[in-house]
Amino acid sequence: MSDSSTPALPARPTASVLWTSSARGGRGRARRPGQILSAIARARRTAALFGAEHPVVLETMSEAHAVITQLLANRSSLRFSIDEDAFFVENTVLLEESLQLYPMLLEMRQREIGMIELHAALELTELRSLVEVLNLPGAEVRSRGGAAGALEKLGVRHITVGPAGPPREDLNLKVDPREAYRAALQVVDELSFQASRDVPLELRKARLVLNSLMDIIAQDRVALLGVSALKNYDEDTAHHSVNVSVLSLLTGGQFELSRIAMTTLGLAALLHDIGKMRVPLDILAKAGTLTPEEQATVQRHTLYGAHILRNLPGLARLAMVVAFEHHANYDLSGYPRITAKKAPHILTRIVQVADFYDAATSSRRVYHRAMLPHEAMKFILDRAGKTFDPAVAKVFVHQLGLYPVGSVVELDTGDLGVVVGPGERDLARPVVKVLRDRAGHPLAPSALSLEMTRERWITRAVDPLDVGIDTMAALHGEEQATH
Ligand SMILES: [Fe+2]
Ligand SMILES: [Fe+2]
Repeated sequence: MSDSSTPALPARPTASVLWTSSARGGRGRARRPGQILSAIARARRTAALFGAEHPVVLETMSEAHAVITQLLANRSSLRFSIDEDAFFVENTVLLEESLQLYPMLLEMRQREIGMIELHAALELTELRSLVEVLNLPGAEVRSRGGAAGALEKLGVRHITVGPAGPPREDLNLKVDPREAYRAALQVVDELSFQASRDVPLELRKARLVLNSLMDIIAQDRVALLGVSALKNYDEDTAHHSVNVSVLSLLTGGQFELSRIAMTTLGLAALLHDIGKMRVPLDILAKAGTLTPEEQATVQRHTLYGAHILRNLPGLARLAMVVAFEHHANYDLSGYPRITAKKAPHILTRIVQVADFYDAATSSRRVYHRAMLPHEAMKFILDRAGKTFDPAVAKVFVHQLGLYPVGSVVELDTGDLGVVVGPGERDLARPVVKVLRDRAGHPLAPSALSLEMTRERWITRAVDPLDVGIDTMAALHGEEQATH
């Protein structure tokens, strides 16, 4: 790949802190760390085909060495790493290189190289040794004590290689949905704190948490719904953000989005309301109706959010777009007024439905009384094609069911129960944990699959507060056999 012929992707503003003005090349071009990876990949390919002494290899390595020398003029080292399917330099994803140099990423992974750190005073011969090691067969690398051992034997002192970056355990994440949910809350708090201090947002933990959330959803799509249903109708922005993220990931999983796009979706959802931190708390927490001025102030959280997120690197910058557009509506009838006659970004359209659902089912102020999950679902379907993207709306309802997990429902027999899982095929026939008979007497809780038991059906959804049912206890009580 020739760097100069690569189509321009959006600039990476955050990276500018590390490498812009002082790292300009002699030809007036910005030197980018990604160029180093591209050069190594090109040299590796050429050396494998024509030998390490081929002029292209020598030339490419000299170019890469010049870039490294410039980038390391003011730093002691530069760290490339692999996380999932992406290359990173420090904490910035190298989107372009991740897309184009995937074969090298796989080769590195095969040789158990997850990280390459280049240190100041790196010599050209050391760079060539790195290319040599990258081209060794995996078995040969192992016999030399791994890539690190092989480099050491070649006398390399200014390149460190090692396994993939910090292990995911460093957040102490297990696949317990409740722990992942709590970690996500913590990440939102940290990101909000960073935004309030106006420092660059540190996305590594967010990515780790999002990976865990995606892993959990892949294993059991209901598990996190149970956790996010336990929001107790609060209006806490962190809970709301995590819920919207979970719901967005669940919906986005049904569209053909790459892993990186999914992470971006989850991240954008976590950050969609970050602009609220710039809205005075007394307005956000006001119990009564907002004046038109106050309303306008609250609506400005979209602009504030976009401003806070304007410097995110690479694809993550779509979070800015989502923060800006998430109240614009599919038909652009919302705010802020968008003049371009183009529907919001697909990630926005997903986040918007998730955002509406979570806000409508929790916010007692805006909607006087929170909508029941079932009512919110009907609202989404009614407004599909207008307020909401019709395809997203359909997928959303399909994922959660017409009676989402946590809904309290009355059956034809008059029994009351809590929905603990969606139906697999029939949206109106979830799995219900029956708790009381029609006279209000408690029953030994038992889970009833309405898909399997066709002679029973739901007559209506009821407000758990009206009937005094503790959905949290019902959802996380003892497991019952389904019959
Ligand atoms: Fe919002
Ligand atoms: Fe929101």
